[in-house]
Amino acid sequence: MSAARLTGTKYGCGSGGCGACTVMLSRYDPHCSANACLLPVVSLHGAAVVTVEGIGSTKTKLHPVQERIAKAHGSQCGFCTPGMVMSMYTLLRNQPQPSLEDIREALTGSTSRSRSKFQVIIISSCSQYSTFLHSTSELFHMNGVLPLDPSQDLIFPPELMKGGGGRLCFQGNRVKWFSPADLSDLLELRAAHPNAPLVVGNTNVGDPGFCRERVTDPTGTGALWAIAGVTFGSACSLSEVKEELQGAVGRLDPEESRVFQALLNTLRCLAGKQIRNMAVSLPSGAVCLHRLSLHPLYWQFSVAVASYKLTHKLPFSPFAGGTREVPLNEKFFAGFGRTHLRADEVLLSLHIPRSQPWEFVSAFRQAQRREFAFSIVNAGMKVVFKEGTDTVQSLSIFYGGMGPTLLRVKRTCEGLVGMYACRLLAEEVALPPTAHGGKTEFRSILSLSFFFKFYMQVVQELREKNEVPQGHQTFQMVSEIQSSKDPVGRPRVHIAAFQQATGEAKYYDDLPAVSGELFVFMVTSTRAHAKIISMDFSEALRVPGAVTFLSARDVPGQNRRLWFNNTEELFAEEEVCCVGQIIGAVVAESREQAKRAAERVRVTYDDLSPVFFTIEEAIQHQSFFNPKRKLERGNVDEAFGKVDRILEGEMYMGGQEHFYMETQGLIAVPRGEDGEMDLYVATQHTPDLEVVGHTLGVDSNKITCHVKRLGGGFGGKVMKIASLSAIAATAAYKTGRAVRCVLDRGDDMLITSGRHPFLGKYKVGFMNDGTILAADITYYSNGGSTLDESSFIMEKALLHMDNGYKIPNLRGHGLVCKTHLPSYTAFRGFGGPQGLTIIESILHEVAAECGLPAEEVSNVDLPAHQVRAVNMYSEEESYTHHRQPFCPRDMVRCWDECLEKSDYSSRRLAVQHFNATNRWRKRGICAVPLKFGIGFSKGFYNQGAALVNIYKDGSVLVSHGGTEMGQGINTKAVQIASRILGVPMSSIHIKETCTGNVPNAAPSAASFGTDAVGMAVKDACEKLMKRLEPVMKAYPKWTWSQWIVEAYCQKISLSATGFFMGPHTSVDWEKSEGAAYYYFTFGACCSEVEIDCLTGDHKNIRTDIVMDVGKSLNPALDVGQVEGGFVQGLGLYTIEELQFSPDGALRTRGPNQYKIPALCDIPPQLNVHLLADSQNPNAIYSSKGIGEPPVFFGCTLFFAIKEAIAAARRESGLNGRFALSSPATVEKIRMACVDRFTEMVCFTSKPGSFTPWAINV
Ligand SMILES: Cc1cc2nc3c(=O)[nH]c(=O)nc-3n(C[C@H](O)[C@H](O)[C@H](O)COP(=O)(O)OP(=O)(O)OC[C@H]3O[C@@H](n4cnc5c(N)ncnc54)[C@H](O)[C@@H]3O)c2cc1C
Ligand code: FES
Repeated sequence: MSAARLTGTKYGCGSGGCGACTVMLSRYDPHCSANACLLPVVSLHGAAVVTVEGIGSTKTKLHPVQERIAKAHGSQCGFCTPGMVMSMYTLLRNQPQPSLEDIREALTGSTSRSRSKFQVIIISSCSQYSTFLHSTSELFHMNGVLPLDPSQDLIFPPELMKGGGGRLCFQGNRVKWFSPADLSDLLELRAAHPNAPLVVGNTNVGDPGFCRERVTDPTGTGALWAIAGVTFGSACSLSEVKEELQGAVGRLDPEESRVFQALLNTLRCLAGKQIRNMAVSLPSGAVCLHRLSLHPLYWQFSVAVASYKLTHKLPFSPFAGGTREVPLNEKFFAGFGRTHLRADEVLLSLHIPRSQPWEFVSAFRQAQRREFAFSIVNAGMKVVFKEGTDTVQSLSIFYGGMGPTLLRVKRTCEGLVGMYACRLLAEEVALPPTAHGGKTEFRSILSLSFFFKFYMQVVQELREKNEVPQGHQTFQMVSEIQSSKDPVGRPRVHIAAFQQATGEAKYYDDLPAVSGELFVFMVTSTRAHAKIISMDFSEALRVPGAVTFLSARDVPGQNRRLWFNNTEELFAEEEVCCVGQIIGAVVAESREQAKRAAERVRVTYDDLSPVFFTIEEAIQHQSFFNPKRKLERGNVDEAFGKVDRILEGEMYMGGQEHFYMETQGLIAVPRGEDGEMDLYVATQHTPDLEVVGHTLGVDSNKITCHVKRLGGGFGGKVMKIASLSAIAATAAYKTGRAVRCVLDRGDDMLITSGRHPFLGKYKVGFMNDGTILAADITYYSNGGSTLDESSFIMEKALLHMDNGYKIPNLRGHGLVCKTHLPSYTAFRGFGGPQGLTIIESILHEVAAECGLPAEEVSNVDLPAHQVRAVNMYSEEESYTHHRQPFCPRDMVRCWDECLEKSDYSSRRLAVQHFNATNRWRKRGICAVPLKFGIGFSKGFYNQGAALVNIYKDGSVLVSHGGTEMGQGINTKAVQIASRILGVPMSSIHIKETCTGNVPNAAPSAASFGTDAVGMAVKDACEKLMKRLEPVMKAYPKWTWSQWIVEAYCQKISLSATGFFMGPHTSVDWEKSEGAAYYYFTFGACCSEVEIDCLTGDHKNIRTDIVMDVGKSLNPALDVGQVEGGFVQGLGLYTIEELQFSPDGALRTRGPNQYKIPALCDIPPQLNVHLLADSQNPNAIYSSKGIGEPPVFFGCTLFFAIKEAIAAARRESGLNGRFALSSPATVEKIRMACVDRFTEMVCFTSKPGSFTPWAINV
């Protein structure tokens, strides 16, 4: 597609896991959505592919889907928007009036880091669209949007209707691809090429590691597509199977269709819609990967029909030819990924019989995320009772995910009688602690839990229903006297929303190749701590297309730089200190060649010691970066002597991967004169490219950095991109040619790292009513191998350790651990969420410890919200623990409104009632307040600059130092310019961020971008208006254009710079005082969850957020930031888990291993209210920064889960405190819900006596 210049289809992961590349694929009828990244182009012969560019454009006409997603504020950074649009478009092509369930299903294969975009996706009802957005003051109106008119859709190209044809063969340099004419042709090919993989959907073969030397494609074999009853042709897609089963379930008696129901339940959660459309169901049997979800069920019932043809290569085959029936059972299975299917055989069909009377069947799967995730453990269970009795006649149980093969628990099934079953099972499914995949105790317990659930299901059918997110948003309307032409304060659409929805919006990798352009691919260390003995790149340079190899020796300027007295190297010179450290780079003519060549670089190492990765190990080694920080208020030690109770504890919070949809990269274009170079780059901080100048030995005035927009940044594109830019620039310098660098998703995750893991160790003293008098907290963060921004991040954690609570005696130490992991970096919130979470954990523990007075319900902790309220800042003039004055009035208002709007008190009672009446499901509810500092505590960063040019035709071009990454900074800048200049927003344009126009900008970070840029734009516009004033006064009736022409004729400058000198914030760490922030953004959030105590699964039920954004500049964008931040926090606190091998290599390197929130995770009720009547005299038009604060609200889900677990533990007689670290994953929830099953599975191996599969860092 890049060759066709169709850049709307995006690369997000390359493995079917994100949906950014969704296109519509048609073979006449029906149409289906598919992941372009998994579609070999040769497999598309005879198919029509529609990309986002094909359905509408801003030049012609938008498709209704594009129009609605744009107008309903559904696009932020826009990188995933075309994929979402194509998923919806395909759905509407097949079903012009889809149900909510259809929409939900269509979107399961798309992930997004932006706002809960799913909420604004449109539905069709009665041929008209409506949206899920219901608000008292609507953020957008549906008036005048285009109706869906299917007659306007593209027709299937007539030239493709003929179909058919003979065998096709495509020959490339490395791969030969056959598309057989029919089944017998396929069998011929199979016999001739027994080692060639057979490709159908390519969702499995496409995985790295599978042989791709030769592939054949049976999609031309019509016979395989036939569906007869419940016999599925082997090329039936999972979607087709699902449809057919749904039909069968509707037709048959419930007892005849139990097995189909079980299959359907599994299919609903299996992968995303795009994958299900392409992937066929049979490989589950054919490939025998134990984690495939359908596997255990197939093995209960299925019979596969295999066809084969004898060739002289297989003279001893026992078969005479033709077809044979093979039961799908353990005899068919030869080992991991292998079956007893012979090389010349193909599976023809799969027969699944109906259930018999007295036969009960269930399927179970538990994954990291409820949907669109491989299961950790799955199971298929069948019990047959003696007719008319409850006597078990036979039982069969298969587990997937419990070893390299499917596990049939024979002994348990045979010996099953009543209550001993679980114990028998526990013995039979026991896993060694070193087992591949880790989570061994959890997996064993899950298998028991599934079995118990099966028992309960047989006794009483459990059914679940999927819900589609809905929500309310409220915000403050602008005053009635505000001119209708003034856009400030109105929910204006993101200025690039239409371009983003049509795929026209350009990101760095969408720029066409510059003539002679090369590609650079990084070579990274595979050792965590070692001396580099040698690097041999001779093999790499022999790869066709390879141009050169780069290492530290090729850097013309400086390879090392000093960053706050800590050395950082661009390329490792002598020693590596983490897996993933860049040691070299290969430059080649194309992306694929560079990648292949990089794989051939041979490095020899001499391992060094010590090597350690975890915070605890760093503490043992006393391995810390400087400076170490401390903040203290009051006299903590003395206060501990006056309190009723003291408790000590710790809270660990795992890291987080940014998972911006657009991976990091740039294009470096040497200008061939005087060292000039242009960089087209995805960065949040253009001046960081000074690093490029230092690397090349060139002044910054020769390097021009251009940023059009970013496909998400979240803090990850501040520091690391500077190094990548320097490497690409070095390659461009050395070769004299333009060089493109686009990190693969796996490399991006490995090299650029993410949010710091934190450990808080605390001692807290409090009174019996929950009032905290003293707290002493030590924060440790895992900084990785180099300092990066770790010490500033630690400072922010310390500066937020009081949140909204007046703890009179409070002390915090902050230590950044130096370990042998890739260096952690900035991430939305910048240490704030970690600092806040530890104190919230303390509040939670204090509440649990206090207990209720006797007259209240017994056996329940002191409501945590009361403990929070009693400790909250309340005086009009309050002081933070670093002695910064502030007024907490609006924080308390947020808190009160949040409790009221969420109906907290009555829902809390309802939760208690629910818990009292349910044994295996428990609920929890939690509310927290928030005080979040805005601006940089390093005062020099608090500045903004802009350049505003008015052209002779009256149009306006605004340039500023901020970068647009979906937060809407450009939209707000245009709104501000429009207000001051009095011209419509449509006459104002922002082209790019460019260091040639606005140098020395501060990073777009710290929630301060709009404050800085907005003020600077305002300043520049006011200067221009001052210059224009005489002309306007002289000709009051003239139009804007006339004034501009006149001003030009009068030689008045129509170009002005604007500058904002922000506050000089600073902290004196010796004295523990200082105004660290410009002001505070306040808020409060309440969430309710439900956990499944047997599996650890959880459902987010409802979340209410009240946010103080001052007088919002644009409520639509601000609500989007609140929702997006919350959902990112949801991932941080409940789903996203990074896993490292014991030797320090990141295991989670893509969306298949690392799960970010999807549609199923968003609370069905997500309500966002912007606090009314709030002012902020400090910032532009009384608004407030909002980018970072809402991430923290994800912790409400964490603490609600903790409450629910506490309720489950009470049922097992455990009333005391218990530790739960973040994120609260399915594994941790299940393991914390101690019960008779967890007790059955206990490992005796001591930590340290074996090598675990993964470690917590
Ligand atoms: C992002 C993603 C998420 C996923 N999530 C899940 C999940 O949650 N649960 C789950 O169970 N699976 C999941 N999968 C795996 C998916 O279900 C399988 O990849 C799929 O079933 C394979 O079908 P395919 O048509 O793409 O097979 P291909 O990749 O084309 O082929 C797979 C294998 O089957 C063999 N094969 C295919 N047809 C035949 C035949 N007729 N006779 C003999 N051999 C044959 C091929 O030779 C090949 O070895 C996921 C995959 C992806 C990419
Ligand atoms: S790029 Fe294809 S699914 Fe992510």
